[in-house]
Amino acid sequence: MIYYFSGTGNSRWAARKLAVLTGDEARDIIGLDAVPTCQGEARIGLVFPIYAWGAPEPVLDFARQLDKAGAFTFAVGTCGSEAGHALKKLAAVFPLDSCYSLVMPNNYVIGSELEDEATVCAKLDAAETELAAIAAELRENKPASRVHEGALAGLKSGLANFGFNRFARSTKSFYATDACNGCGLCAQNCPAHTITLTNGKPVWAAQCYQCLRCLNECPQTAIQYGKATEPRGRYSLRRYRAD
Ligand SMILES: Cc1cc2nc3c(=O)[nH]c(=O)nc-3n(C[C@H](O)[C@H](O)[C@H](O)COP(=O)(O)O)c2cc1C
Ligand code: SF4
Ligand code: SF4
Repeated sequence: MIYYFSGTGNSRWAARKLAVLTGDEARDIIGLDAVPTCQGEARIGLVFPIYAWGAPEPVLDFARQLDKAGAFTFAVGTCGSEAGHALKKLAAVFPLDSCYSLVMPNNYVIGSELEDEATVCAKLDAAETELAAIAAELRENKPASRVHEGALAGLKSGLANFGFNRFARSTKSFYATDACNGCGLCAQNCPAHTITLTNGKPVWAAQCYQCLRCLNECPQTAIQYGKATEPRGRYSLRRYRAD
C-alpha cells in the first residue's frame, strides 16, 4: 500500500505511477477515516512533498501512528531541488527500509517565480525515469537510499524547518481578489479544511499546511499571498500530466 499527501499533484502523480509499476494501491492520507492496520501488507510506502526540508505535519502525524507490521517500508519525498534531512527525520518516527527524494517542479510560488515550461517538462520527464528505477527496486524489496540532501542539511531541517512550522504556516497573508467568482473550489479542496466561503469569498482560519493548492489551483488565479504572488505564474501537475 502506498499512502500519499499532495498539495499540487506532484506527489499524488508519483504515488499513483509507483502503484501501477509495483502492483500496489495508492491512497490519499487526507480523508482516511482512521489510521489503517498494516497487518498482511507486504510493502508500505509514503509519498509526500518536502516542506522547508521536512515532511509535512499530516504525514508525520500519520507515520507516527502507522504500524510497520513486518512490511518492507519506503518513502519518497518530492521536492523542487533538495530534501535536507526530511527522510532521516521521518525514519525516526517510522522505520524505513528505503528512502528517496524525487526532483519535481517547484510549486513554492510564495518564495520566488516558478520555473519555465521547458524546465517543468524536463523535470517531469526525468522524474518519470527515476520512478521506473525506484519501482524496479521496490518490486524486489531491495533497500536503497537516494536522497539529495543539499548543503547545510542539518541546519535547514532543524532550525529553518522549526521556523517554518512555528511562524510561516499562518494564513494571514492569503486573500482573494475581485477576480474570485465564488466557485468554492478552494474551500472544497483544502486538505486542512482551513477555508470557508463567506459571502461568496474564501476566508482562511489562522493556520494551515501551506500546501499552496488553493493559490496554485484557483481557476480564476484570484488567490494571492501578500504582494509578491500577483505577477507570478501558478503550478499544478494537472496542467502537464493526467493523474
Ligand atoms: C511550503 C513549501 C515548502 C517547500 N519547501 C521545499 C524544500 O525545502 N525543498 C525543495 O526542494 N522544495 C520545496 N518545496 C517544493 C515542493 O516540495 C515541490 O514542488 C513538491 O514536489 C510539491 O509536491 P505536491 O505537488 O505533491 O504538493 C516546497 C513547497 C512548499 C509549498
Ligand atoms: S477557487 Fe478561486 S474563484 Fe473559486 S471561490 Fe476560491 S478564490 Fe474564488
Ligand atoms: S489554505 Fe491553501 S495552502 Fe493552506 S492547506 Fe488549505 S489549500 Fe493548502
